[in-house]
Amino acid sequence: MIDPTHQGHVRRAHPSDGGAILTLEELFPSDRMSMRSVRRFLTAPNAHSWVAELDGAVVGNLILLTRKGSRIGRIYSVVVAPPARGRHFGERLVSAAESQSAKQGLQAISLEVRADNVAARALYAKLGYQEIKTMKAYYEDGSDGLRLRKSF
Ligand SMILES: CC(C)(COP(=O)(O)OP(=O)(O)OC[C@H]1O[C@@H](n2cnc3c(N)ncnc32)[C@H](O)[C@@H]1OP(=O)(O)O)[C@@H](O)C(=O)NCCC(=O)NCCS
Repeated sequence: MIDPTHQGHVRRAHPSDGGAILTLEELFPSDRMSMRSVRRFLTAPNAHSWVAELDGAVVGNLILLTRKGSRIGRIYSVVVAPPARGRHFGERLVSAAESQSAKQGLQAISLEVRADNVAARALYAKLGYQEIKTMKAYYEDGSDGLRLRKSF
């Protein structure tokens, strides 16, 4: 269905979104997932997934992981398809994860980001995430990683 406002929306992911999520994840090679792991994220009780939808197409997704006994949620993955970027889908996906985390009584969300990922770092800085750790050569290609956290 064509969205008359052309702003799209964010909704909970359904198991039937697996293929679309995998396609999106393949756009972001440093964070590659298998169909098996996508399916697991769509059904596991400790995983929460959302998708961004524009004109009936899935154009973004976010996976939030929680752990029994931990009051810190982890954004495992967030990606928006290049043509849909800049419409605040990233922001809306992260906000959905934050609302769910607060509802579950979590105290904070953490995540890792490549130090050279300008767009993601700007997104998280805008939303109030703070850098709590630098991880030297954290990624396979030798790039540094940053651990970010936002407490509620
Ligand atoms: C990071 C990513 C998810 C952002 O998605 P998006 O929907 O385009 O981002 P939004 O439109 O919600 O942007 C929100 C804010 O982030 C910042 N931002 C987003 N993209 C930016 C860019 N390319 N350069 C600078 N700032 C940027 C801006 O502050 C923006 O707010 P503004 O538009 O009011 O200025 C997207 O670029 C992406 O999928 N990148 C590849 C995957 C990735 O890097 N994931 C993160 C791994 S931790």
